[in-house]
Amino acid sequence: MVKLYFKIELKEDKKMKAIVCTKYGPPEVLKLREVEKPIPKDDEVLIRIHASAVTASDTFIRGFKIPIQFMIPMRIMLGITKPRRPVIGLVLAGEIESAGTKIRRFKPGDQVYGLTGFGLGAYAEYKCMKETDSKSGCLALKPANLTFEEATVAAYGGLLAFQFMEKGNIRSGHKVLIYGASGTTGTTAIQYASYLGAKITCVCSTTNLELVKSLGADEVIDYTKEDSLSPGAKYNFILDAVGKSKTSKLKDACKKALAPGGKYLTIDDESLLLDSNRLNRIKELAEAGYLKPYIDRIFKLEEIAEAHRYVEKGHKRGGVVVEINPAIF
Ligand SMILES: NC(=O)c1ccc[n+]([C@@H]2O[C@H](COP(=O)([O-])OP(=O)(O)OC[C@H]3O[C@@H](n4cnc5c(N)ncnc54)[C@H](OP(=O)(O)O)[C@@H]3O)[C@@H](O)[C@H]2O)c1
Repeated sequence: MVKLYFKIELKEDKKMKAIVCTKYGPPEVLKLREVEKPIPKDDEVLIRIHASAVTASDTFIRGFKIPIQFMIPMRIMLGITKPRRPVIGLVLAGEIESAGTKIRRFKPGDQVYGLTGFGLGAYAEYKCMKETDSKSGCLALKPANLTFEEATVAAYGGLLAFQFMEKGNIRSGHKVLIYGASGTTGTTAIQYASYLGAKITCVCSTTNLELVKSLGADEVIDYTKEDSLSPGAKYNFILDAVGKSKTSKLKDACKKALAPGGKYLTIDDESLLLDSNRLNRIKELAEAGYLKPYIDRIFKLEEIAEAHRYVEKGHKRGGVVVEINPAIF
């Protein structure tokens, strides 16, 4: 009897729950499956994932909604009719379960957060990752004061927001405008600009005006009601956190509202960098109390299609989280 019980345990240990993207298409192509649990190589850690996220990027990959100029290289990179790596998911926060012999930065029990990049695989109970940055991801110790759920928002929103905001050379007293301030990137960008002492103007829709004020906006503009800026408004730095696909008269007016020497950047101007040093800076700011990730909704792994439908509408507030192996404290 004892032997039989032991055998079943071992078999179960080799499997994990994951979301498989069966082909490129609508959210329904995402299926909950039992798949092989990954085994770490000498230069990898095995992460027990507690939370993942559904981001704009996840919905682009699932639906293969890629700008025409990137279609061929991305198909080659990701897979022709479906992702070559069937388990998708870009963001994770979890705990190191085991570490290969060549791992130096992490040890079992460490709480980590990061992005998996082209390695995908975050919609699963476990994921193996290298400790070095590459196109297959970046990993760092999680901010100690954030939950795993909050850490997923800090990882994705933080990497995007910090990468672009750092280019603004923002100083105390500078006037900063964030267009699309209520999403994952926008809500993080507000807090980063506030930390730097900027005077912040945020553009968002009516329902999000109070949210962005609560995060640090000094002035708000409702893009559903306004199509121009106040005469004479000039900004040292403007971040378009919505992207080039969405245009408006107001956005055109923003582009022209730069102070001398000012800079306008859109979130599509360069590729997201997977950078663990930046994750460490995000951790420092979060632990110092300057960054509190905003969570819109939390879905269970089996509700992933619903989460994708929600995010695809393009109006999430902060981040949308997927709970996987909920942490028990
Ligand atoms: N460069 C890269 O490599 C890279 C990587 C990943 C993502 N991205 C891009 O980063 C962007 C931001 O991602 P995210 O997850 O932070 O986005 P998100 O959370 O989905 O936020 C979208 C924001 O857009 C606003 N919005 C939607 N429609 C709008 C409209 N017509 N006019 C003005 N604002 C509008 C929403 O505000 P309301 O709800 O108030 O309307 C919300 O604040 C995405 O476009 C994504 O493609 C770029």
